Amino acid sequence: MSTNGHLDVPSRNANGHFPNGSTDSLLKSTAVSISPTTSSSIHTLYRQQSLSFSLGSTIRPSKVLHPTSTGELRILLLENISQGAVSYFKSQGFQVDWFPKAWSEDELLEKIGQYHAIGIRSKTKITERVIKSASKLLAIGCFCIGTNQVDLLTAAKAGIPVFNSPFSNSRSVAELVIAEIVALSRQLCDRAREMHDGVWNKVSKGCWEVRGKTLGIVGYGHIGSQLSVLAEAFGMRVIFYDVINIMPLGSARQVESLDKLLSEADFVTLHVPELPETKGMIGAKQLKLMRKGAYLINNARGKVVDIPALIDALKSGHLAGAALDVYPSEPGANGPHFNDNLNDWATSLRSLNNIILTPHIGGSTEEAQQMIGEEVSQALSRYLNYGSTVGSVNFPEVDLRAIAADEKNFVRVCHVHVNQPGVLRQINEILSDHNVEKQFSDSKGDVAYLMADIADVDEHDIQSIHDRINKTRANIITRLLA
Ligand SMILES: NC(=O)c1ccc[n+]([C@@H]2O[C@H](COP(=O)([O-])OP(=O)(O)OC[C@H]3O[C@@H](n4cnc5c(N)ncnc54)[C@H](O)[C@@H]3O)[C@@H](O)[C@H]2O)c1
Repeated sequence: MSTNGHLDVPSRNANGHFPNGSTDSLLKSTAVSISPTTSSSIHTLYRQQSLSFSLGSTIRPSKVLHPTSTGELRILLLENISQGAVSYFKSQGFQVDWFPKAWSEDELLEKIGQYHAIGIRSKTKITERVIKSASKLLAIGCFCIGTNQVDLLTAAKAGIPVFNSPFSNSRSVAELVIAEIVALSRQLCDRAREMHDGVWNKVSKGCWEVRGKTLGIVGYGHIGSQLSVLAEAFGMRVIFYDVINIMPLGSARQVESLDKLLSEADFVTLHVPELPETKGMIGAKQLKLMRKGAYLINNARGKVVDIPALIDALKSGHLAGAALDVYPSEPGANGPHFNDNLNDWATSLRSLNNIILTPHIGGSTEEAQQMIGEEVSQALSRYLNYGSTVGSVNFPEVDLRAIAADEKNFVRVCHVHVNQPGVLRQINEILSDHNVEKQFSDSKGDVAYLMADIADVDEHDIQSIHDRINKTRANIITRLLA
């Protein structure tokens, strides 16, 4: 317990990361009260104003929970993570060490023990060895879409949630598809290439407006639905196919089968995840079902399309064009690598007319990078300061409504434990001496997470709750926030 009434005691017992009673992890903290609505959302402001007007009262601000005093939680940021994220972490009172490059496993093994959180992109590998030597690590932020670079299972078992930003580039992909629809329809890339070669080739044959044409979207998720709205604004008719029933946006229409979509659409665009059932989803049979003169666009995942079959469909003139941003095998670095060594049909694909080939840039925009920085830094801070695991990829998602700033003598218990019978009985026995204001728990695989807000506790109670929970057999990490 710190002198100002705040306590955060990370301790682990499952793999011996944190010796029980380690004074090293008893961290001081500072309480600062701010308005709960720092968001500039007009809806939030409107709601706040109208509520206080109609009820004649003001909304109770939330208490800002801090596990440590300024500068005591240390965050390591590798791989040139945005300065916006650095500023945000600093504004939350964290100490930040920022490096432009990825670290090797040896470098991580040497230094990771000093840090409470780490932010990486795709090049730094967080292996089992790294996690086992990360004695203070509480959370991992992947400032990117994928999380393959982290041993997610080992992290979860060590009580470390991993956050990423899967949907921050949806708009960027949707906009690229719109550009590709127009470019394919007008054979834009061929005309541009000819001009670069000094050839003037003014033609209108086979060039079309997109107004009134039918766009078939396969997978109506984050990207597919954004695209639907943009395409309608262009005057296109939109149909979509998805494995779940989804409320269409605007005048879009869901069709009952992929075959139906393929036979109706002038443009077919793929926005499904890579799953066993989506691998090879578009092969020779499906291409044949597409309308003669139609176009195929794949910005989803490389294995969704059978590319040799697509090459045949383009060569025969059945399809009028295609755009590919993703491939079954992609080079690990920039350079002249898109050749037959990588995929044995590469030369054949590159030689075709009216095919747009891009190097997996669908989501690569400045805006998407900025959003990734904001989203992941906020998710990490919400976990470190408030215990929320919403958005974590390897953890049960648990959150509690905020503690109001005027609610005194509260403590929030954040208890990560092994998912086994009898844990809740044991924990509730410990908490039952106190007033449990709210409590929520959930599990994912071998790991479970419980959050509880306890009222009317003093310093002695807090220390006792912590010590008793920490000694339970299933405890992985227990943190108390106030
Ligand atoms: N090119 C890029 O740079 C880039 C960038 C971001 C995302 N992506 C890829 O785009 C794809 C879509 O991303 P998202 O964010 O829209 O995903 P999402 O999870 O929001 O949406 C996917 C949709 O596909 C549907 N679906 C799943 N299986 C299906 C099937 N067999 N048939 C029809 N529909 C099916 C789901 O129900 C869901 O509605 C993913 O594969 C993602 O990896 C590519």
